[in-house]
Amino acid sequence: MEWPGWSPDVVIAATDGSDGSLRAAHVAASISQKNDSKLFIITVVRPPEGWWGIGGAPPTATALAKALDEAQHSVLDLTVKDLDTEGIDVQTVEELGDPAATIIGFCSEVDGDLLVIGRRGAGLIERFVMGSVADRLAHYAPCPVLMVP
Ligand SMILES: Nc1ncnc2c1ncn2[C@@H]1O[C@H](COP(=O)(O)OP(=O)(O)OP(=O)(O)O)[C@@H](O)[C@H]1O
Ligand SMILES: [Mg+2]
Repeated sequence: MEWPGWSPDVVIAATDGSDGSLRAAHVAASISQKNDSKLFIITVVRPPEGWWGIGGAPPTATALAKALDEAQHSVLDLTVKDLDTEGIDVQTVEELGDPAATIIGFCSEVDGDLLVIGRRGAGLIERFVMGSVADRLAHYAPCPVLMVP
């Protein structure tokens, strides 16, 4: 990453299907269009209940496949359909794991220049102004983070 005359070659939009993440994806697509950036749109599926639980049985292969499949169709496809991706090299990515840690790992893996996220997500608990995933990404992402309200 070069700072003087910085422009993003690789932009990453993280989406959980929420309105905030959709706004973030629009911003990311627009930036990518103007800068001729490669755009990744990533969604992270949390492992089904029981994966982390003490004594909980690991999910079956079918349950995992189903969770991933649902994410692929309901989140990524809907997000991409809503965007103007004309002229953008866009690639959707679907991972299973802890959202913040997985997104951070992905940013490093693809040497991302800009991560675009929503300030809030699909969580229903409104204890804080900023969501916990957004908070962790703002603190620990390896590249600049653009947070969309
Ligand atoms: N599973 C996920 N996959 C990809 N991006 C995500 C995921 N979860 C959150 N994000 C990104 O982080 C942003 C903020 O979401 P976050 O989860 O922090 O807020 P929240 O759901 O309102 O709060 P919390 O999850 O702490 O209850 C989202 O708009 C999205 O850009
Ligand atoms: Mg959330």
